[in-house]
Amino acid sequence: MVINMEKTVYVKDITNGTVVDAPFAVKRADLRAKRGEQYLHITVADRTGVLEAKFYGEKAAEAARSIKTGQVYRIIGTGKVPQGGSLLIESENEESLDAILEGTLPLSAGEDMLYIYTPAKIEENASELQKIVASIQNQNLRIFVACCLDSRFYECPAAIRRHHEYIGGLCEHSLETVKIALSIMDTMPRTKINRDMVIAGCVLHDIGKIFCFDKVGQNYVPNDTYNLIEHITMGIMFIDEYKSLLTDSQLLQIRHIIQSHHGIYGDVVPLTAEAWLVNEADGASSRLRSIVDDLEAIPAGQKKKGLHSEKFLWKAI
Ligand SMILES: [Fe+2]
Ligand SMILES: [Fe+2]
Repeated sequence: MVINMEKTVYVKDITNGTVVDAPFAVKRADLRAKRGEQYLHITVADRTGVLEAKFYGEKAAEAARSIKTGQVYRIIGTGKVPQGGSLLIESENEESLDAILEGTLPLSAGEDMLYIYTPAKIEENASELQKIVASIQNQNLRIFVACCLDSRFYECPAAIRRHHEYIGGLCEHSLETVKIALSIMDTMPRTKINRDMVIAGCVLHDIGKIFCFDKVGQNYVPNDTYNLIEHITMGIMFIDEYKSLLTDSQLLQIRHIIQSHHGIYGDVVPLTAEAWLVNEADGASSRLRSIVDDLEAIPAGQKKKGLHSEKFLWKAI
């Protein structure tokens, strides 16, 4: 029978050789193989951080099938820094897989906060973003953007793996995007760009993501909307709820910004200066965040492929 277990070890305490036997939330789980041997690969989290774990053994496939991501499990293993690699928890002991197969651990009231990791300053980001929205000069556009920002926007992640993949990530990414775009406009004062439309476009470019993830336990997981529709279409559909606030031209422009914000990789390439600016700023925020987060996990003086950016990076000594 699974009993409540005290949270004695946190991600931030784990180093090479640390013996781990404590509850962690499981963010992701899959079955992988190395030199013909299957292992359970999971990402564990608590309020201090996120760490990868690898458990080898005969029951790896069974354990991988049994895991419900977002739930809390007893994790048994040892902190390890492989040659040229990053810190992880590893175990070749069957008891680690048995502990997973025992099932999820129950949490007492309020304990779930111990397992939610986010580096985002959720309240500060929300108020900074709202101030920028309040600076939109066109009253109807300002009200339109404010109406679109419901409470899901502030808690939702921006992605599952690539960038801003934590609670509050969507708001943080949207705030970075609008601040980058406005600073580019300040740097290029002769450029004729509609500031109001840039703010609206940056803030709402990924709004469809609020429909793409479901909160399960301590985690957000992609849902059927993510798999079958994706965020661009959802965003364009969602903003229609408030379209009566906009002129036809405003609605067309904002739809175009959302539709084309993936730039040359999207189905529609940007055609307006505002849409190109949103695309540039979005790319800068997402790319740099993934690179910086990857570098956190790379030892100084080493070149390694990052998990988020999937780029080879080198950490300065
Ligand atoms: Fe996007
Ligand atoms: Fe984005």
